[in-house]
Amino acid sequence: MTTDPLVVFTPSGKRGHFPVGTPILTAARQLGVDLDSVCGGRGICSKCQISPSYGEFAKHGVTVHADALTEWNSVEERYKSKRGMLDGRRLGCQACVQGDVVIDVPPESQVHKQVVRKRAEAREITMNPSTKLFYVEVQEPDMHEPSGDLERLCTALDQQWELKNVHSDLHILSILQPALRKGEWKVTVAVNLGDKNTAPRIMHIWPGYYDGTIYGLAVDLGSTTIAAHLCDLQSGEVVASSGIMNPQIRYGEDLMSRVSYSMMNKGGAAEMTRAVREGMNALFTQITDDAGIDKGLIVDAVFVCNPVMHHLFLGIDPFELGQAPFALATSNALSLRAVDLDLTIHPAARVYLLPCIAGHVGADAAAVALSEAPDKSKELLLVVDVGTNAEILLGNTEKVLACSSPTGPAFEGAQISSGQRAAPGAIEHVTIDPVTKDPRFQVIGSDLWSDEAGFDAAIATTGITGICGSGIIEMVAEMRMAGLLDGPGLIGSAAQTGTERCFLDGRTYSYMVWDGSADGGPKITVTNRDIREIQMAKAALYSGARLLMDKFGVDKVDRIVLAGAFGAHISPKHAMVLGMIPDAPLDKVTSAGNAAGTGARIALLNTDARAEIEETVRNIHKIETAIEPRFQEHFVNASNIPNAVEPFPILRSIVTLPEINFNSGEGGAAGSGRRTRRRG
Ligand code: FES
Repeated sequence: MTTDPLVVFTPSGKRGHFPVGTPILTAARQLGVDLDSVCGGRGICSKCQISPSYGEFAKHGVTVHADALTEWNSVEERYKSKRGMLDGRRLGCQACVQGDVVIDVPPESQVHKQVVRKRAEAREITMNPSTKLFYVEVQEPDMHEPSGDLERLCTALDQQWELKNVHSDLHILSILQPALRKGEWKVTVAVNLGDKNTAPRIMHIWPGYYDGTIYGLAVDLGSTTIAAHLCDLQSGEVVASSGIMNPQIRYGEDLMSRVSYSMMNKGGAAEMTRAVREGMNALFTQITDDAGIDKGLIVDAVFVCNPVMHHLFLGIDPFELGQAPFALATSNALSLRAVDLDLTIHPAARVYLLPCIAGHVGADAAAVALSEAPDKSKELLLVVDVGTNAEILLGNTEKVLACSSPTGPAFEGAQISSGQRAAPGAIEHVTIDPVTKDPRFQVIGSDLWSDEAGFDAAIATTGITGICGSGIIEMVAEMRMAGLLDGPGLIGSAAQTGTERCFLDGRTYSYMVWDGSADGGPKITVTNRDIREIQMAKAALYSGARLLMDKFGVDKVDRIVLAGAFGAHISPKHAMVLGMIPDAPLDKVTSAGNAAGTGARIALLNTDARAEIEETVRNIHKIETAIEPRFQEHFVNASNIPNAVEPFPILRSIVTLPEINFNSGEGGAAGSGRRTRRRG
């Protein structure tokens, strides 16, 4: 039986006996305990901080005495006086075992720490970035044993960190020699650890111990906007987030018009590639300026995008994506060099693109799948990424199905007479009194409702300018509940509805929400044409979801997640009144914000997640809505508000939908509307 002291680590619970004098860092390594170190135990980096616990630990069967570790030493004292360290903390590489001891490894000292996500139902992100920092001491050159500085650096990485077969790019050779000499043969090296297919690669070298950090970018390249999160690759923190409009908008609002631009203009695709890359670089400059860091410290980037943006970003003509059978140049994940994409971040930086699911369902949907993990859900989960093109995933641990559905830009306020993007002055929330039929609303930029004292003053600078996408959803649903709008989608006349707010507007009726014309402001109305646009958009979304439910063999889902920047603002109740999502308990409908961006962040911070999503995507069944006969049938039914055939029992137990029909023989009935395949 060993008499060596027992060392118990928490929270891992790993334990083992170690000879007196063993540094805690060494014990941790031998047991596979997740304890960080950049300097390799030289007392420089302070990444190895631990908290010893003293006293009786019945749970672990040990008593820890005050002298269980060696005394506080001068290295720790120097570090604490210069940089500060919490009381009770020790450096794991300096404190050595003297007796039985219980050691807590605080989260910030764990390499594979969990990055907290805001939402409780979302899984945590485990840190395992592509690139890590290593401090090494390199042997000086010797006249008798001639070898290159790079070779001796690689030997040091192998001997001190067990990093084998390390490669480097040419630019490393140009900075290597001055760094080694300036650091007196001690350097900190950023190494991309590679994966099963690629060898580790030196990304950067700093003389001596580099006390800073390195960064990565998680980029959601959308057709309308490009959004990026700048992440600290050591802590996992998002240090800055920023977004710009996609400069390709000047070639067409939606993706298909960009595809046609490339078809009709020689060199058009290359022009759009240049535009998006320039926009990307401008965004990166903006985000690093915001964070006050050097762009050259960005060593890794993950991109998610739809298939057309994927191709245009990579410099591939999206021609094939504009016609059946919508073949992608490649659907696999890609690991590329940033310089090959003209990105002006670190010259050796790597870029990872998530795999595309199919010609219609891109890497953005794969990122949503990574973030929301329907494949790990016991409940049947419907994830809808609401955009100009809705990406829809339905699944559980058994299987996952995916499709995309062409909703068009109506949900973004486009093609709606008083529609606008979400910006100050836009109506975002509304209720309509079922008796008076008068609306009250909130606009972006003010918390007050329009019938509250102080509202006029609160909106004095912004005014009331229009209705944003989530506002339009609430507006149409409220009109339906207040009896201003019938199931097929007709707005009633003043006589039918009992309010002068409904007025004849051409051949159909419109509803007056706000008349600001007396003060030179706009008249904000909802026209029957607006209703048609919303009907088509929501019918496209619902029928995509319904089609996946058919394929799954179910009539209801357990949980619904609304994703996308816009999805986060949708009121579940109103979305259900509209019939844009299937019937479900309201507390089972949640929003995930920018799930695609979150998926990109997961893939950036945890390289294991990359292999995982590649595997998941291989197993996702893709459904092509365009060739499914039932899609059209669902679409027609779903044009009704909420639906011509689906009963929506849960919804009807919560709200009353008046049984009205305003069809006087004029105006088109819902469901007869045109529908074009739109993407974007
Ligand atoms: S390992 Fe760097 S200070 Fe302990």
